[in-house]
Amino acid sequence: MRKFLMSTAAVAALFAAPMPMAHAEDSVEVLHWWTSGGEAAALDVLKKNLEGQGVTWKDMPVAGGGGEAAMTALRARVTAGDPPTAVQALGFDITDWANQGVVGDLGEVADKEGWDKVIPAALQGFAKHDGKWIAAPVNVHSTNWVWISKKALDAAGGKAPETWDELVAVLDKMQANGITPLGHGGQAWQDATIFDSVVLSLGTDFYKSSMIDLDPAALGGDKMVEAFDRMAKLKSYVDKDFSGRDWNLASAMVIEGKAGMQMMGDWAKGEFLKAGQKPGTDFVCIRFPGTQGAVTFNSDMFMMFKVGDDKKKAQMQMAADIEDPAFQSSFNVVKGSVPARTDVPDTAFDDCGKKGIKDLAEASTGGKLFGSMAHGYAAPAAVKNALYDVVTRHFNGEIDSKAAAKALVEAVAAAKG
Ligand code: BGC
Repeated sequence: MRKFLMSTAAVAALFAAPMPMAHAEDSVEVLHWWTSGGEAAALDVLKKNLEGQGVTWKDMPVAGGGGEAAMTALRARVTAGDPPTAVQALGFDITDWANQGVVGDLGEVADKEGWDKVIPAALQGFAKHDGKWIAAPVNVHSTNWVWISKKALDAAGGKAPETWDELVAVLDKMQANGITPLGHGGQAWQDATIFDSVVLSLGTDFYKSSMIDLDPAALGGDKMVEAFDRMAKLKSYVDKDFSGRDWNLASAMVIEGKAGMQMMGDWAKGEFLKAGQKPGTDFVCIRFPGTQGAVTFNSDMFMMFKVGDDKKKAQMQMAADIEDPAFQSSFNVVKGSVPARTDVPDTAFDDCGKKGIKDLAEASTGGKLFGSMAHGYAAPAAVKNALYDVVTRHFNGEIDSKAAAKALVEAVAAAKG
């Protein structure tokens, strides 16, 4: 066998000075799907914050809204017994991971910083498991928004639509004006994001009974057929190249005036801001017509995994940083979301952000705050994926509205097992 010999000088050098290696305890490896321009800008706020405290950031980006691809990548790491320090995750996915016994315990930081008092109960239901804090909520997004080009709206009469009929009228005018009325990317999670709003626009009770309670009568009834009819109508305003397009490219169509509007969660605002656009001047944000006063929310949380003692210090630092009120303001101003704490002032937020904060508080006290189906806060992944499948097949014209409502009932029943 060949032997490796070191010179005496090399051996002496090894003992004389420690190797210039990064200390494991001072680094965090973070899995996330924030890969668009606006998302990366927001992530940078968190990264710089930690780096300023001497914590090295190891980036593990896995693109894809809704986090499906990220969860698949995570599974491989957990199976290999080597989970990242922190993972961006949503709602029921967090509960699923917690049930597998692989997540850490943030109790030490959460107790010290009083998270129980400032993080809303709707988020605590997912950020805690068996009474223990396992994830740090970074924001609250909501899916029932429409982002409209101000120029395109002015050319279509200037009045933001408040009802379904007004929405259709504006879309028709945009079409007559020669632009793509609806900027959209044909990916299952994006179709589902519009579906959240369309279902909610037919009533908060209907959203709750169908998307949250999964009541077969609501999933397969006349109102659901109407919801699918509305989806088909919206599809008629999408351009021919929509299939597979990333959501931020659909935002870019609105930013560039090629499309009139996009129906998307408020992460879209991050793209408009990154492009230097201003709410009220360049773009208009409205709640999806018919959903005013109600909110379908999702909250990005950093779920912390069980790591060795050498990595815990940096992990706890990251958790503490995320809930810092000043960070909650500076991060969410860039991301397009609103703070996950109820005690963060809205002063630094633009008009859409201020509206987002107010809408969330009102929907919460008024019993009109619901978890987003499309973004993992209404039902576990198996059911969510079953709903995605039907919504997308219908959107792509493979089945009609009646068949889709029927298929929803069957798909959900099969997914629930
Ligand atoms: C996340 C957002 C993200 C969006 C698009 C959503 O599921 O909650 O933070 O910006 O996906 O990637």
